[in-house]
Amino acid sequence: MNFEETLVAKTSRAESVLKKYLPEETGYQKKVLEAMNYSAMAGGKRLRPILMEESFLLFGGQGKVVEPFMAALEMIHNYSLVHDDLPAMDNDEYRRGRKTTWNVYGDGMAVLAGDGLLNLAFETAASAFDMAADQDMVKRVAEAIKVLGCKSGIYGMIGGQAADIEAESGAQITEELLLFIHENKTAALIQAAMMIGAILAGAERSAIEAMERSAYNIGIAFQIQDDILDITSTTEVLGKPVGSDEKNHKLTYVTLHGIEQSKAQVEKLSDEALAILSSFENRNTFLEELVKFLITREK
Ligand code: IPE
Ligand code: IPE
Ligand code: MG
Ligand code: MG
Ligand code: MG
Repeated sequence: MNFEETLVAKTSRAESVLKKYLPEETGYQKKVLEAMNYSAMAGGKRLRPILMEESFLLFGGQGKVVEPFMAALEMIHNYSLVHDDLPAMDNDEYRRGRKTTWNVYGDGMAVLAGDGLLNLAFETAASAFDMAADQDMVKRVAEAIKVLGCKSGIYGMIGGQAADIEAESGAQITEELLLFIHENKTAALIQAAMMIGAILAGAERSAIEAMERSAYNIGIAFQIQDDILDITSTTEVLGKPVGSDEKNHKLTYVTLHGIEQSKAQVEKLSDEALAILSSFENRNTFLEELVKFLITREK
């Protein structure tokens, strides 16, 4: 299989892992369960669970203990998007080629669907304890849950999203703030993916820290590319509205540095990430190709 075919296979594997942990749509809370599944099963690149499993494999991970974490992180990512699209945040009506969750189910139900995904994520991750065969694995699962909480929360994704909406006022426009926003709203979940993969595989502390640095570069590059596409792409290709950042007066890399410099920065950051990934004793060529592929991604 070539890279594209392998990516398709790994995307559908990540999706089937996620599906196993999503709720059945029954009971008086059926509507919120439908809204959760609507947002989680809408497609999407499944990049974070794929990065997690490939990082797990890079460090020789074996067995199914990574699966609940793959599902949990994708749930958190989806919850972040459901809330990000709300009228009170980016006010976007389309995502992944269909109506956003609030646009179908209403704001209240979308808030609750996001909350539902977040809580289910930690319930799902905690189910990995049942798979731990020994005390050493129990410790790895506990550490992975801690990383998941930290990188998703106020010192991670939520912190970045908070700074992102505050920066809409334009009161403070600095490179430092821009990097804070990108590092937290976007790189943090990518760091969670790659660190958790390494942790569950039993990687050494120094390797986990190296994965955190590599994922930082991948994450910043990923958000710069997202901001470029918000200007240069079309709604048809992207599946979400173009011009969303301009509409919301967002502080982005492109507004500070322009398209050409932004493109160069995506390449530079990706090269830095690759230099780290290729420095380990083992190599994961698919993971390295995936990072290269992200530089030229069109959606
Ligand atoms: C979108 O993430 C939000 C950003 C952090 C830029 P993705 O581009 O990974 O979204 P999906 O899951 O593939 O739709
Ligand atoms: C989103 O950044 C980051 C999240 C944590 C959801 P954007 O607001 O640019 O993401 P899109 O473009 O709506 O996917
Ligand atoms: Mg946003
Ligand atoms: Mg948005
Ligand atoms: Mg965007």
